[in-house]
Amino acid sequence: MKILIVGTGYVGTTTALVFCEKGHQVTGLDVDGEKIKRLQSGQLHFFEPGLDELLKKHLREGKLSFTQNESKAIEENDIIFICVGTPQDKDGSADLSYVQNVAERIGENLNDYKVIVDKSTVPVGTADKVAKWIKLHQEKNISFDVVSNPEFLREGSALQDALQPDRIVIGHSSDKALHLMRELYKDFNCPFVETTPKTAEMIKYAANSFLALKISYINELARLCDVLGLEIDDISRGIGLDHRIGEAFLKAGIGYGGSCFPKDVSALLKIAETNHQSLSILETAVKVNKTQPKYFIEKLQAALGSLENKVIAVLGLAFKPDTDDTRESPSFKIINELIKEGSKVKVHDPVVKIGSRQSLKQAGTVEECVSDTDAIILCTDWEQYNAIDWPSVRKRVRFPFIVDGKNMLNPNEMKHAGFGYYAIGKS
Ligand code: UGA
Repeated sequence: MKILIVGTGYVGTTTALVFCEKGHQVTGLDVDGEKIKRLQSGQLHFFEPGLDELLKKHLREGKLSFTQNESKAIEENDIIFICVGTPQDKDGSADLSYVQNVAERIGENLNDYKVIVDKSTVPVGTADKVAKWIKLHQEKNISFDVVSNPEFLREGSALQDALQPDRIVIGHSSDKALHLMRELYKDFNCPFVETTPKTAEMIKYAANSFLALKISYINELARLCDVLGLEIDDISRGIGLDHRIGEAFLKAGIGYGGSCFPKDVSALLKIAETNHQSLSILETAVKVNKTQPKYFIEKLQAALGSLENKVIAVLGLAFKPDTDDTRESPSFKIINELIKEGSKVKVHDPVVKIGSRQSLKQAGTVEECVSDTDAIILCTDWEQYNAIDWPSVRKRVRFPFIVDGKNMLNPNEMKHAGFGYYAIGKS
């Protein structure tokens, strides 16, 4: 099949490459000329393991191309995936202006029957709006169908998640479109949820919000474990082995971040509010997440006293490992708190580069970052931080204290290395 992917971010680029892997002919379209130029020359504009090689392979084999020519791209393809951003608007809702713009261009250039697929995370009812925007911009009455097909890939493991999804959700309102979508995904070995577009749209918000809820639940429980002197990691395992609960997303730490959970939870809360329905459980999850970084800062204050003029090393800037994405990263919430308290902050990240500025200095190596510091806060669970030689770090620091925001390090090893160690919910 000939597929057009509109929007070449994490989701769009990964989706394009996965369809190439399945033997389809794919075109990537973006309004950002710089991104298109880079992608067409085989260079990714973001960090994501495994995508680089596939990009080069499919460009070389002629299965993939990138363009800015909207009309030609729309005319020449059978299925059009909308993968543009839906950022958070000022009132907390999802901003649909990019989606609307794509729909209008599709309307202007529709030359024969096509299926338009919403892959972007969008509020309930957006498929209907997309159909309306397309119709409003059509000169001739050419038929089309809009399908909702939300994406569930995670940054850092995007390729694997998209190649081997847990399920594929198809929200459709015509048998013709459903038939085409089944054909498109025929080589994927997973359950299919075939439903209405509105239900498919809600499934995506409900999934992200439920995962956020799980994280906030375990984080709040971890605070109680701190008081009771209990081990949160054992509790996560002890409850997670119950298949009804599941072990995933029960890792306590400084809270969730990224471009999805905060934005999508906020959008679902807005949908509930607009419909005069309470989702208080989710409101509480947001509150817990907002206060979680501060909880770690308080642990630091309990150990060091005032943080004014203290030099603090922050390890990790990305919102999670294996990505260079810092959107809503808890690291920056920690950094901002530290700067507010008058600390001098040194930061390190294996991939993210932010440069140095007043009160904030980026170090090239972990050793440089931790040298002459009064404390270290680990904010991203990059694998390489597991291999740090802590006894040798001990010799470099001014005061040996570590706050482990990801419950990642071994408390006994830290103790043997001579560090005071705090991680949430560790007896
Ligand atoms: C999330 C969802 O997991 C994907 O299914 C979804 O497709 C994606 O949003 C999206 O809507 O595009 P992502 O934000 O890339 O994926 O990353 P996650 O692995 O879900 O992590 C989100 C945040 O939760 C990170 O800050 C992570 O450190 C935190 N987290 C995760 C925890 O604090 N504890 C956990 O146990 C798991």
